[in-house]
Amino acid sequence: MTHAATRWHVSHRRRIEYDILSAPDLLDPGNPALLSSGRSNPGRRFVVVDEHVAQHCSAALDTYFAQHGIEARIVRFPGGEAAKTMDAWLGILHELDAFPIHRRDEPIIAIGGGVLTDVVGFVASSYRRGMPHIKVPTTLMGYVDASVGIKTGVNFNRHKNRLGSFEAPRQVLLDRAFLTTLPHRHILNGVCEIIKLAVIKDVALFEQLEQHGTDSIASCFQSDHGGRILDRAISGMLEELQPNLFENELARNVDFGHTFSYGLETHHEERLLHGEAVLLDIAVSVLIARRRGLLDAVEVERVFALIAALGITLDTGVLDTDLMWHSLLDRIEHRNGWQRVPLPDGLGHCVFVNDINPAEITASIESLIARTSRQHDPVLEC
Ligand SMILES: NC(=O)c1ccc[n+]([C@@H]2O[C@H](COP(=O)([O-])OP(=O)(O)OC[C@H]3O[C@@H](n4cnc5c(N)ncnc54)[C@H](O)[C@@H]3O)[C@@H](O)[C@H]2O)c1
Repeated sequence: MTHAATRWHVSHRRRIEYDILSAPDLLDPGNPALLSSGRSNPGRRFVVVDEHVAQHCSAALDTYFAQHGIEARIVRFPGGEAAKTMDAWLGILHELDAFPIHRRDEPIIAIGGGVLTDVVGFVASSYRRGMPHIKVPTTLMGYVDASVGIKTGVNFNRHKNRLGSFEAPRQVLLDRAFLTTLPHRHILNGVCEIIKLAVIKDVALFEQLEQHGTDSIASCFQSDHGGRILDRAISGMLEELQPNLFENELARNVDFGHTFSYGLETHHEERLLHGEAVLLDIAVSVLIARRRGLLDAVEVERVFALIAALGITLDTGVLDTDLMWHSLLDRIEHRNGWQRVPLPDGLGHCVFVNDINPAEITASIESLIARTSRQHDPVLEC
């Protein structure tokens, strides 16, 4: 007698909802935003704050929690890519385990750049299989990119973000005053991600950068124009992330600049910041797009003129076909078997290609180096 196969099928949908809120004067005790989610008075909070940020605001943080009757454990964390390790992740987990907090109504608070929010997000997703967390970005990279989505992670085995999770924050609180203490190089680092969005999907943002980018950078994005650029960048980022939060669709236009950059920043960790590697990738990709007739000469000149006007120098000395080709090969695994490289098809528009070859990369590197050396050669400028 045959036994009928028994089968159980489980299907479940989990709704993802979170707010990204403008929260000026976040550490003013009169501002309830930081405690607006979860239990307070009494209540506890486990807070991880970037070491450089703590130099400016640790007294304000202490005062804030004291005035709200919150018992806070404030852990300082060094920023920088070198800190994005499994050891760092475990270190925070040990601290958290020594400061018990409610599993649902005492969210972990992460105040820092993309490194800190990625690591703390991963802590939140793994401790007790998931604790709520709140992100407060303090770098431009965090403000327009790292804090906006749901990806967390640490570097592993010499690969960037190789371990991580999708973990939605409960809230993202935006106070751009944090940017005023950020070193200039890190402001430009974040600007590179804004340029990415402008080139690949938003020509109006590109124009905003052309008209107000330099002044916005000079004011660390504290001006009205600077605020509008930030708002537009976040809106554009969310337009892309929200319908594809878990990256079921692997052809993503926000991956523009994130193909060759992957290998460049891993091999030159001491030399390149994430955004700097992304902008090098963008520059090479724009020249690939030009060679394929996707961009015309005027559009290419606009991109390079914008980069120069914003005061960004491309570190072309790191460009190397072999390294970039192998980076593309790794991305093929990541993108499930296809290159799926986004290229601009006219400014503000995107196509995906699957047939980039090493010779094309070499030719584009050569024309980028020729172009940048022309810019820097005073004899040729005459
Ligand atoms: N999760 C995502 O979707 C996502 C998206 C983009 C980037 N990232 C990740 O973000 C990371 C880069 O982020 P980042 O550029 O913010 O780096 P970071 O967090 O290392 O911060 C850069 C530097 O600025 C310091 N700092 C932070 N805030 C400051 C402030 N207000 N004043 C003075 N100094 C301050 C930090 O200590 C650090 O030295 C990368 O690891 C990248 O992979 C993640």
